[in-house]
Amino acid sequence: MAEFTLPANSIVKTGKTFDAPEGATNVRKFMVYRYDSSDGSNPSVDTYHVDLDTCGPMILDALIKIKSEIDPTLSFRRSCREGICGSCAMNIDGANTLACTMAIDDVEGDIKIYPLPHQPVVKDLVSDLTQFYRQYEAIEPWMQSDTVPAGNRERLQSKEDREKLDGLYECIMCACCSTSCPSYWWNSDKYLGPAALLAAYRWIVDSRDEKTDERLEALDDPFKLYRCHTIMNCATVCPKGLNPAKAIAETKKMLVQKNL
Ligand code: SF4
Ligand code: SF4
Ligand code: FES
Repeated sequence: MAEFTLPANSIVKTGKTFDAPEGATNVRKFMVYRYDSSDGSNPSVDTYHVDLDTCGPMILDALIKIKSEIDPTLSFRRSCREGICGSCAMNIDGANTLACTMAIDDVEGDIKIYPLPHQPVVKDLVSDLTQFYRQYEAIEPWMQSDTVPAGNRERLQSKEDREKLDGLYECIMCACCSTSCPSYWWNSDKYLGPAALLAAYRWIVDSRDEKTDERLEALDDPFKLYRCHTIMNCATVCPKGLNPAKAIAETKKMLVQKNL
């Protein structure tokens, strides 16, 4: 089993170690990032030995067990435990993913758990996603129209047009993609990032929305859209199997056609 050691020059210090209960025979080591923005001291990595014979199968089960039975000071977000709410996104074994859908058995060696990268940390595994949500708000993620639908009823959509939303509407805004995108790391104040751009495209291609041109024009900016360099980390990590890079490429194509 691979041993995990922090680099010698790391400002992250080795923290506390919590041993497994006496007699436990099926034990895994969880190395969890700890930081509290309210006290400003350097972060640390605490080590928890968890008895898997009394634990559920997912990483989130282990975190809940740690918090309930070993160390109540540990902070993390979760709600649905079904891969629906997106709140348990974190960096597990070096990749962004959802703790509730990642099986403990799918990680080899010590299990390293960090918050989503390149975001301010509020506490432990809780990132401050204020900017991420502001960027989502900036793409105006709601249907916009000037006309009244025929018969003043709901807006109808053909099956073909509805199918264009597949692979887009399923996004749970977990932020795994944006926080794994190097372009977003370096320009997150100006580049909207894959999650917001996938959402923008979802409205651009919705046949019921009447602001397609305005939506495209709002993205026609060297930073907001064009900082995507098709590195594809976003598609690799998305826990819902979505492909923001493809949506971004399609948006760029539509802009080229519009500007001809
Ligand atoms: S494809 Fe674009 S959005 Fe996706 S990770 Fe790469 S640069 Fe970021
Ligand atoms: S595209 Fe995937 S990774 Fe990105 S926010 Fe949506 S669900 Fe999460
Ligand atoms: S707890 Fe909702 S997605 Fe993991």
